[in-house]
Amino acid sequence: MSERRGYLLGLMALLFLLGCKERPPQPAAQSAGTHYGALMSEVGRRFELLGRAAVARRWDLAAFELAEMEETLEELPRAKQPEKTGGANLRGLEQALTSTSLPELKSALKAREPARFASAFGHAAAMCNGCHQASEHAFIEIPSQPGAGVPKLDPLP
Ligand code: HEC
Repeated sequence: MSERRGYLLGLMALLFLLGCKERPPQPAAQSAGTHYGALMSEVGRRFELLGRAAVARRWDLAAFELAEMEETLEELPRAKQPEKTGGANLRGLEQALTSTSLPELKSALKAREPARFASAFGHAAAMCNGCHQASEHAFIEIPSQPGAGVPKLDPLP
């Protein structure tokens, strides 16, 4: 009986240690196989939620979505690169977005000012569209108004 108990305790300790073991650096390994387009799809979803949350004055949710979007943007350079780039400087355009639009969006959220946020959102959308145009993906249009679906899907004439 006590032998079995000792065995069980040992097993539990082992499971505990295994659970505590530091995990291998998964993000890097994951993004090596992750396609650029899959990350973009997530950026699009986050950007839409960011806009909708701000329209609903759910500022904390908006800040969360922005932080998640930033993390996803940071993974782009390590992802499997898109087939069609139109020769665009993806790294430079990503950098432009993260260094100008993200701080502008962040400070508008912090101030909780809808008009300022809407303007920052429009500037960010212009950066998104600039890269989509440069990389031969002009058909992926990002709306400049917060609250709209991303990408644009309203019928064309
Ligand atoms: C540095 C260039 C660049 C920037 C900046 C950029 N994109 Fe993209 N985006 C791309 C490329 C390239 C694709 C096509 C990827 C592929 O080939 O699958 C794409 C695709 C997308 C897609 C379609 C994903 C799918 O598979 O359905 C969405 C949505 C999207 N981007 C949203 C955004 C939003 C929102 C922003 C700005 C916050 C943004 N993108 C900024 C380059 C960019």
